Amino acid sequence: MFRIAPSILSANFAKLGEEITNVIASGADWIHFDVMDNHYVPNLTIGPMVCEAIRPLTQAPIDVHLMVEPVDRIVPDFAKAGANLITFHPEASGHVDRTLGLIREHGCQAGLVFNPATPLSYLDYVLDKVDIVLLMSVNPGFGGQKFIPAALDKLREARARLDAYEARSGRHILLEIDGGVKVDNIAAIAAAGADTFVAGSAVFGAARETDVHRYDSVIAGLRRELAKAGA
Ligand code: DX5
Ligand code: ZN
Repeated sequence: MFRIAPSILSANFAKLGEEITNVIASGADWIHFDVMDNHYVPNLTIGPMVCEAIRPLTQAPIDVHLMVEPVDRIVPDFAKAGANLITFHPEASGHVDRTLGLIREHGCQAGLVFNPATPLSYLDYVLDKVDIVLLMSVNPGFGGQKFIPAALDKLREARARLDAYEARSGRHILLEIDGGVKVDNIAAIAAAGADTFVAGSAVFGAARETDVHRYDSVIAGLRRELAKAGA
């Protein structure tokens, strides 16, 4: 019912393969893969070659979050590299409907990402082509930022829209949250309607402090809080 998707942005890149194997063995559901281009966002991270390199290490879905502009050129490369889901920011695509279609044509699930100030109205005419909605609860570009509380109201609004859509179409769309998710706020975030939780610094930061390369206790802590939220 709830999915935990650690963001490898906060992993130790010198040991990336090990980090991925360990975080999945510790109970994570997905790998969240943050792609930044120093253009759409002021940071530069990893691309399709890294996705291809980690693909053989896990059966877990790879959730590619594109913070790049333009979007379409790179979509087929990520599909070939083994991505399962590809999400993008609508402001970064000149043709949102086309990009959603392109992602699905390449065999991946498609999603839109909403910055804190981006209105949900981008969903109005494209819900039939959307498999996942990702709400940013920080401004994109960096891990380790603080959760923006207004994201809770936005989650409730998105939950209502997606529930209404499911009631009329029978199709379930996932609702993911990204940014500042911790053990102490995940229950409130779940109560506001999220079902999929990205956590970067909360997961990889916790382990690095103690130099333990397993993440069981923090992931168990997140799940314990989710259970309280009324799973
Ligand atoms: C930010 C990224 C996030 C980030 C989350 O632009 O999209 O996925 O890694 O990191 P935390 O959980 O540390 O806020
Ligand atoms: Zn992300």
